[in-house]
Amino acid sequence: MKNRYWRIKSRPQGNAFTDAFELIEDIVREPVEGEIVVRNSILSMDAGTRMWLTDRTDGYQPPIEDGAPMTGLGIGQVIQSRNSAFDEGDLVRVFGIWGDYSIVDPILAGAVKLDPAVSDRRAWLGPLGMNGWTALWGVEVTGNAKPGENVVVSAAAGATGILALQIAGLLGCEAYGIAGGQDKCRFLTEKMGAAGAIDYKSGALDEGLDAIGGIDVYFDNVGGPILDAVIKRMNHYGRIAICGLVSDYSTGQRTAPQEFDQILMRRLRVEGFFSPDFMDQGEKLTARLHGWFERGELQMPYDATHGIENLLSAYAKLFTGGNIGKVIVELDQ
Ligand SMILES: NC(=O)c1ccc[n+]([C@@H]2O[C@H](COP(=O)([O-])OP(=O)(O)OC[C@H]3O[C@@H](n4cnc5c(N)ncnc54)[C@H](OP(=O)(O)O)[C@@H]3O)[C@@H](O)[C@H]2O)c1
Repeated sequence: MKNRYWRIKSRPQGNAFTDAFELIEDIVREPVEGEIVVRNSILSMDAGTRMWLTDRTDGYQPPIEDGAPMTGLGIGQVIQSRNSAFDEGDLVRVFGIWGDYSIVDPILAGAVKLDPAVSDRRAWLGPLGMNGWTALWGVEVTGNAKPGENVVVSAAAGATGILALQIAGLLGCEAYGIAGGQDKCRFLTEKMGAAGAIDYKSGALDEGLDAIGGIDVYFDNVGGPILDAVIKRMNHYGRIAICGLVSDYSTGQRTAPQEFDQILMRRLRVEGFFSPDFMDQGEKLTARLHGWFERGELQMPYDATHGIENLLSAYAKLFTGGNIGKVIVELDQ
């Protein structure tokens, strides 16, 4: 059986992913005792993976070596099992490779059996997956958002942000988004229930933030100059939940906030959080997300690309802002 997968050739420069990856054709090797073979049907594109493609060794995950297959989350069906906890035919989410098949140790790959009754399987990579957990944890636990507070979310039209924005609304907060472009901002206010949305590319970021009239919680996906602009508008005792710093991933730069002193002046709490740290809470988080999802209160638009050969153009959208919602790659199976 053939397996096509993306392998890292060299460190990508900026968004030049076609120079940095190659599509390999190989055979699916036999699993060893304890392993399962998963036929991937949908691959998740996640902005945080860009950090693993740099040489930095101080990130929350070590870099992936040149020559290795690119890793990421996906869902698919178990087609061969040498692990008693998994049967052929099980629908699973695993941390595998960007390929037709992933051969994994289920424990190391964080394999989770999925309820086939959920009709839209894509949801396991969005509202019912890592993005959902991250959004809920960041707003409620790290951000400690309370009803009536003003919550601002950056990269608000992306997968994690769009969920954080809606969850803040569901928890009774006034939820504001920051996103690139008028179309995205309109989508957030007209379809996602945002109290307001600011197009940071329009040159009116400062005015838009001023109009909010004080920010209690900032769910930050971006870092860089937007973080500085927000810090200056935080209310006293506000919380900044650092989810991601996507504006720095490609450049490898560290744009620490210039407005750092305001953390003291306004008595802010700034805290990073990382989804694998609360993986043990996954079931509880999924149950709450599932309730909102089933009632249609938590929505996710998908930016779907078809075919593994087209994956790199899907991945690039995360860094050029080409997506609204969750970027996925659907595979022929
Ligand atoms: N801490 C955790 O456990 C955890 C888990 C999941 C994700 N994350 C973080 O969540 C963030 C979003 O990830 P995602 O996978 O959900 O991707 P996403 O939000 O679907 O896509 C990334 C978005 O970031 C925005 N962006 C890209 N470059 C930017 C820049 N220089 N300045 C401002 N905005 C920029 C783009 O939207 P615009 O058009 O608005 O620019 C793009 O759509 C990332 O920082 C990621 O690391 C963290």
